Amino acid sequence: MAKSSKKIKKTKSRPSTKTAKPWGGRFTEATNGLVEEFTASVPYDWRLYPYDIAGSIAHATMLARTGIITKTESRRIIKGLQDILREIAAGAFEFSIGLEDIHMNIEDRLIRKIGPVGGKLHTARSRNDQVALDIRMYLRDEIAEIHELLGLLQTVLISLAGLHCDVVMPGYTHLQRAQPVLFGHHLLAYYEMFDRDRGRLVDCFRRVNVMPLGAGALAGTVLPIDRAYVARLLAFTEVCENSIDAVSDRDFSIEFTAACAQIMMHLSRFAEEIVIWSSSEFGFITIGDAFTTGSSIMPQKKNPDVAELARGKTGRVYGSLTALLTIMKGLPLAYNRDMQEDKEPLFDASDTVMLTLSVFIEMLKNITVHKDAMRKAAEDGFITATDLADYLVRKGMPFRGAHEIVGRAVLLATELGCGLGTVPLSEYRKLSPLIREDVYDALSLEASVGRRTSYGGTAPANLKKRLQALKKKMR
Ligand code: ARG
Repeated sequence: MAKSSKKIKKTKSRPSTKTAKPWGGRFTEATNGLVEEFTASVPYDWRLYPYDIAGSIAHATMLARTGIITKTESRRIIKGLQDILREIAAGAFEFSIGLEDIHMNIEDRLIRKIGPVGGKLHTARSRNDQVALDIRMYLRDEIAEIHELLGLLQTVLISLAGLHCDVVMPGYTHLQRAQPVLFGHHLLAYYEMFDRDRGRLVDCFRRVNVMPLGAGALAGTVLPIDRAYVARLLAFTEVCENSIDAVSDRDFSIEFTAACAQIMMHLSRFAEEIVIWSSSEFGFITIGDAFTTGSSIMPQKKNPDVAELARGKTGRVYGSLTALLTIMKGLPLAYNRDMQEDKEPLFDASDTVMLTLSVFIEMLKNITVHKDAMRKAAEDGFITATDLADYLVRKGMPFRGAHEIVGRAVLLATELGCGLGTVPLSEYRKLSPLIREDVYDALSLEASVGRRTSYGGTAPANLKKRLQALKKKMR
């Protein structure tokens, strides 16, 4: 390997930032610089600041109400926190990795701003219950936002399905043409998936929305705190029952990330179909220029990169889920510093899902559906083979026998170089005398989809009903 001209100095140890630590009392040496870098989470957990501050304001309010601190002290603390909130929002706050995390950065600033009274905020609290609170509050917002995006996606699906409710396409199994279906029916399959995804989020929200503050480091506190009051102030419906559990589990984050993983899995399948449909081989849809990208070498190319990246980013979210599960496995109760590693995967999973959903929704609004190409593909000579078997069944033949005859009809049509719809009646009647002139009607695409009126089937009448019901539901 060529030696780089610039030597990178590898230091075994780095000088400390000499930041005075809130926990510095029992230490005689400054923290090693590498250790500060290694243990800091503020480069990513700074984004929890609105929750950290809202949680602290509720805590300070409770401390005054229970008489643990005075009303004046509480007011000064709250005012200081509100100022800090504005400073951070305005980008005027200087974060220090020497102060490890968002919690200590804010506390340090508070004390600098309002003096020693700021040191009273951390009464009856630990960063262990504080961080659990912050994550739960953050997740409540993320869940609400993703839930809403999924609803928007569903609305787009409903309107696309309504717009193209008469379009017939081949339905596939094994990516081989199987039976004709309505394009709208196919789209509404995704509606159902995203509906379950929303349900999983709602379900997860119930377990996220439980208030951990007051658990202290792990054992609770000797001070007369009022946890139910804090929960009310922060709109939590329940309080964590066990202080050890409150600070030591992240199952709610894992559950949320698992819900994200399933959303991505569904999006990824949809994305794959969009990639296939927009290929010249299929030509079922065209994606608007604004939602495709070009090739730097092949001038003719218009690539479905949004769909491809939606598919690709699924890997990140699965990775986050695996990371969280792995971080948590084998940790003894209660809090362990390993748990600080939960934030980056969690944030990344949520950010990825939100961005992917947002762009996916816009892309869907910008597709052109090629009805004729879909129909042409559905006119594949053998796609109504099941309908021929069903025709024979309606005439009284057992399904297995009908299956055999249709198999022979397919063979015959292949030899004749035609489709099932154009095999001469005389040939059909050699296969079974049950076949009459009306067979040709039964083999049309309209008859094929039109007859599938079983509940949840692809018949136009079903689609119409379902769309009406969904439009009402989404209103
Ligand atoms: N930054 C820490 C985390 O995210 C906060 C809790 C730290 N607690 C501690 N005892 N060091 O997990």
